[in-house]
Amino acid sequence: MEKVLVTGGAGFIGSHTVDLLLQRGYQVRVLDALLPPVHPQPRCPAYLPAEVELIMGDVRDKRIFTQALKGVDAVFHLAAYQDYLPDFSRFFQINSVGTALLYEIIVEQRLPIQKVVFASSQAVYGEGSYHCTYHGLQYPELRSREQLIRREWEIACPLCLNLMQPCPTAENLVQPHNSYAISKYSQEMIALNLGQRYDIPTVGMRYSITQGPRQSFSNAYSGICRIFTTRMLAGKAPIAYEDGRQLRDYIYVEDVARANLLVLEDKRANYQVFNVGGGEAVTVLEYGQLVAQTLGTHLQPIVAGEFRFGDTRHIISDNAKLYRLGWQPQTTLPEIIQAYVTWASEQPNLGDYYAPAERYMKQVGTVCKAV
Ligand SMILES: NC(=O)c1ccc[n+]([C@@H]2O[C@H](COP(=O)([O-])OP(=O)(O)OC[C@H]3O[C@@H](n4cnc5c(N)ncnc54)[C@H](O)[C@@H]3O)[C@@H](O)[C@H]2O)c1
Repeated sequence: MEKVLVTGGAGFIGSHTVDLLLQRGYQVRVLDALLPPVHPQPRCPAYLPAEVELIMGDVRDKRIFTQALKGVDAVFHLAAYQDYLPDFSRFFQINSVGTALLYEIIVEQRLPIQKVVFASSQAVYGEGSYHCTYHGLQYPELRSREQLIRREWEIACPLCLNLMQPCPTAENLVQPHNSYAISKYSQEMIALNLGQRYDIPTVGMRYSITQGPRQSFSNAYSGICRIFTTRMLAGKAPIAYEDGRQLRDYIYVEDVARANLLVLEDKRANYQVFNVGGGEAVTVLEYGQLVAQTLGTHLQPIVAGEFRFGDTRHIISDNAKLYRLGWQPQTTLPEIIQAYVTWASEQPNLGDYYAPAERYMKQVGTVCKAV
């Protein structure tokens, strides 16, 4: 394999994957629509190396996608719509239809693509796996709005109503709970089905919350590190939703890029999906303390009794399957936060980008107040 197309290659995970591909001697083409809010201006980001061939276009546009696929040996399909907003159809138009179009073009044009690696997400697990002392492993449903309004944050066993302990979730469970997650799971079904049917080696990557430099300041989903860092740098305490004790695992973007290259090059990965997680679970409040320590501020997250409807209570990925291929995350959480804070502090016009997104999420009922 010599030449690789990266859709969404001007984005966060895409651009770090591009860097590693170039380091390993691949030629790289990027197809990216440079869409807001990730790219407030539709121009090539400065971090994209000059040797990358950039095609500015949309993965829903058959003509331009066909042009981008000509002459490449492999594809990283990372372009996606991710958000918490109620524009449900957009998730499927970009994520699901864009993926089907990729395979449609490869099959119609008989393109000799040797590998497709596509981005799925930990989100396909919904609430993931829990352990009940009396009833063993359980896969609970999404918490209802009424439950959250009553501050019933933790999850009870559906059989005996005792509270359960979260545990790491392996690849065999799938229970998507929102439009983004359903669109990601539909990408998996489309890609793995068509890949197998037409002998196009395909691998799906379920990334946990990915963090690191270049993560857009101006979208709602880029998450905790950006929100906590930018708020604290602006001298304001950030808000922790629910009671701040939600467990998550966080993965550094360069560790994700290494996982991407591993499955690109390793045939054992073909036609499978892999968790790509940080391996360590921490609460939102612990995360906030680490950001505060890194910034040297006394500010701490405020627990204001707000919640974001559709959030999972706890989610932690079990990475054993990818470990068996020889991958391990190499970056600790304090190192991840340090890398992000250093990069964010160097960015011009750093503002409290979350405030307008949060106002909008309140307006549309995504962020609500508990009683
Ligand atoms: N960042 C995370 O924590 C995370 C976690 C799990 C999964 N993922 C998945 O990984 C992939 C990359 O995520 P990211 O965080 O780098 O996202 P990002 O938003 O930083 O980058 C996505 C890129 O895709 C481009 N894009 C969006 N829609 C497009 C379209 N219709 N046509 C062409 N280009 C389009 C955007 O302009 C952007 O440059 C996505 O598929 C995402 O769903 C990300």
